[in-house]
Amino acid sequence: MKVLELTDIKKTFWKNKQCFSAVDGVSFSIEKGECVGLVGESGCGKSTVARMITRLEKTDSGEIFVNGENVTRCKGKALRDMYRHIQMVFQNPVDSFNPRLKLGSSIGEVLANFGTPRGEIKQKVERLLVQVGLEPAMAMRYPHEVSGGQCQRAAIARAIAIAPELLICDEATSALDVSVQAQIMELLFRLRKETQMSYLFISHDLALVQSICDRVLVMHRGRIVEAGDTREVIEHAAHPYTRLLLASVFPLHPDPQWKIPDVPTAQGEEGDACRFWQRCPSCGELCRTERPSLRKLNERHDVACHFAE
Ligand SMILES: Nc1ncnc2c1ncn2[C@@H]1O[C@H](COP(=O)(O)OP(=O)(O)OP(=O)(O)O)[C@@H](O)[C@H]1O
Ligand code: SF4
Ligand SMILES: [Mg+2]
Repeated sequence: MKVLELTDIKKTFWKNKQCFSAVDGVSFSIEKGECVGLVGESGCGKSTVARMITRLEKTDSGEIFVNGENVTRCKGKALRDMYRHIQMVFQNPVDSFNPRLKLGSSIGEVLANFGTPRGEIKQKVERLLVQVGLEPAMAMRYPHEVSGGQCQRAAIARAIAIAPELLICDEATSALDVSVQAQIMELLFRLRKETQMSYLFISHDLALVQSICDRVLVMHRGRIVEAGDTREVIEHAAHPYTRLLLASVFPLHPDPQWKIPDVPTAQGEEGDACRFWQRCPSCGELCRTERPSLRKLNERHDVACHFAE
């Protein structure tokens, strides 16, 4: 069963008096229990996708379905019900908490909002804290009184408090030290086993995505350019942009084709072209005039490139 399905979602923003498309026709779905990675360089639109799913950002066009229900334009109670199914963990845990509330109160607030009786909240908060590897006494601390890693654990406790079916982690470990990052990854891994939650795991770090995700979506300038089983995509990357990402993660990869010069591309010249053509060593005439659509290479692998073969 599909927990989440996006069909052709789009978003444009205004920047320097110019309208540019930050997300340009993204479609994908996540099955129950599945962990899907969304990877791509800074500014490619990953957070905008997450913000549209959680309705922090309006969608210009396209549809979003949660458990088969169209939530693209839902409001009021329907929107609240949607948050029962989907929760999000952000990059900066301290900023995601109200600085004037103790961590326990912030977590308790979510429980109360979703119907937990007053008398059960304290005990539930403590159980949640223990579940994410914190002492129950942490409930009495303010966000600025704990370490970044502890605060992110508390943010995860708050996100799983109402047992959502999908957890969106947007760069949830990238503000943390490497060793703390590893501990949070371990926690996410364990929670996944314990709860059968689905994940949309957003990161610019392909190595992290590889460590936890069943499937990966590679995003480049607002479009999904490659998608498939994580291992298949990493071992048989078919899109030149994915190869570029891989080369930055595994710099000693012997194939010189993988070292593509990183030329910045101008925003705004879009239209019917591959958005990677200015940086692509395989670019042909067709690439400048026709948008490559995401097509099947095999059962476990899709790519949006005219010359992937
Ligand atoms: N509210 C906004 N108004 C104008 N432009 C925006 C807004 N939100 C995002 N953008 C722009 O949209 C593009 C995509 O941004 P987004 O935050 O989704 O990228 P990202 O892939 O999450 O990047 P990062 O890895 O740095 O977090 C960027 O060019 C960004 O500057
Ligand atoms: S469509 Fe053309 S420009 Fe785009 S990635 Fe493929 S070969 Fe390169
Ligand atoms: Mg982001």
